[in-house]
Amino acid sequence: MVAIWWTASFGNRLCEVIVLDNLRCGNMANLSRSWDRIQFVEGDIRDEDLLREVMERVVVVYHLAAQSNVMEAERDPEYCCTTNVDGTLRVS
Ligand SMILES: NC(=O)c1ccc[n+]([C@@H]2O[C@H](COP(=O)([O-])OP(=O)(O)OC[C@H]3O[C@@H](n4cnc5c(N)ncnc54)[C@H](O)[C@@H]3O)[C@@H](O)[C@H]2O)c1
Repeated sequence: MVAIWWTASFGNRLCEVIVLDNLRCGNMANLSRSWDRIQFVEGDIRDEDLLREVMERVVVVYHLAAQSNVMEAERDPEYCCTTNVDGTLRVS
């Protein structure tokens, strides 16, 4: 999940970007070029308290957190369902 909030401060940046990912299949190395421009939160979209906390000042959400691998989804259907279905409902 990638979340964005607009900052009210008089800085150069127009927005702040938060990346929330539980690193189940994500790789921190993929963020290396953006490291100085994002806030990374290692966490799960199924964690309601964390989600509420992260969403507090957020204006835009790009919801990409998912169990996207079909073989993994077959291996662990409960994880797939709680992330892709329940998790998506929570994010929305
Ligand atoms: N890749 C594409 O071409 C494409 C095209 C259209 C739609 N999509 C959709 O976009 C979404 C993401 O696809 P992708 O290819 O980037 O998948 P991906 O597997 O590369 O990325 C999914 C990310 O979600 C994270 N994640 C998994 N479960 C999580 C959880 N419970 N809480 C927090 N983070 C969690 C993983 O660690 C990973 O970084 C999927 O819904 C997919 O169907 C992808």
